[in-house]
Amino acid sequence: MAPPNQVYPVIWNDESSVDTLHGRVLLIDQTRLPNEYAVVDIHRYEDMAWAIETMIVRGAPAIGVAAAYGMYLGAREIKTTDRSEFLTQLEQVARRLRATRPTAVNLFWAIDRMLKTAQRTLGSVEHLKATLLEMAKTINADDLRTCQQIGDYGLAALPSNPEQLRILTHCNAGALATAGYGTALGVVRSAWNAGRLERVFADETRPRLQGAKLTAWECVQEGIPVTVITDNMAAHCMQQGMIDVVVVGADRIAANGDTANKIGTYSLALVARAHHIPFFVAAPLSTIDFEISNGSQIPIEERHPGEIYKVGETLLCPAGADFYNPAFDVTPADLITGIITEYGVVAPVNLKDQLAAESGVLDRKISFLEDA
Ligand code: MRU
Repeated sequence: MAPPNQVYPVIWNDESSVDTLHGRVLLIDQTRLPNEYAVVDIHRYEDMAWAIETMIVRGAPAIGVAAAYGMYLGAREIKTTDRSEFLTQLEQVARRLRATRPTAVNLFWAIDRMLKTAQRTLGSVEHLKATLLEMAKTINADDLRTCQQIGDYGLAALPSNPEQLRILTHCNAGALATAGYGTALGVVRSAWNAGRLERVFADETRPRLQGAKLTAWECVQEGIPVTVITDNMAAHCMQQGMIDVVVVGADRIAANGDTANKIGTYSLALVARAHHIPFFVAAPLSTIDFEISNGSQIPIEERHPGEIYKVGETLLCPAGADFYNPAFDVTPADLITGIITEYGVVAPVNLKDQLAAESGVLDRKISFLEDA
């Protein structure tokens, strides 16, 4: 299958029906890229949970959108017409989806938003289900718009010198990791469209290689010049004067600005500081966890060691070795130059006060947490 011009990793499709279920979610299978562009059909919430666990869909905002549709799929599988029984069973769907991946807070944010919508909506169970589908579509559309705003604010925050920038990024915080356009790669796209980008350097991002496979794929699709380097080359490239600015995404940002992102982000921030290179985090408000004061409270996912000791079916390491495979690390706030959100760029300190003062719109995000 040929990839489309615009990449949307999670799409609601009304047109099909399987069994008695009308409509389905189409996911780009990110485990097959770049070698094969394939789309997976998801009709049931258990399959959505599995797709998130196996990283068919991945990236914090994208799994939030996928989980929102997963909540709707679970809702439509519930047979009862009794409202209170429906809400009890919907909680069980939420529990299953919450258990898929622990670090990206967008997942929990989207599930809570769907649950709240169900609890607040009056009328029949059929009406509740229809409202949940509309809310999932809203979460999807909002994230796309948000990424474009992040791209615009990020472009304005980039160093003015040199005119043509060399931007280093880590993992994939692109269209594939969001509803579309991307966060860190959204900034890159905006820079490219404005004629301010010389090239992107993409860390390959061991062990799952999201940089080498996904970021490079997105850039090649759009003709954005991209150079893939292995993770241990970043310091050397900075020392050689080859990097002007670093922009990465985030999976969860604590209220003090400490930021969890793909493993290797912390060491990148340290070497950027050592070379006086600005280090930006680009993320929507749905990635900020205002409930936790600092990064030590962020749960870090540990994944199967096979991601380290195997490439495909080829074993890399001797039997008898032990492995440790944390999927994320936490970059302390003081290593971050600024956090690029859809409401502008904020200093990585006291985010609640800054965002509430600057936009007044923080209430929209926080009210879901307070009511929960
Ligand atoms: O394990 P992954 O591939 O889901 O991790 C993704 C990242 O760490 C991204 O940088 C982050 O989710 C931001 S995506 C806009």
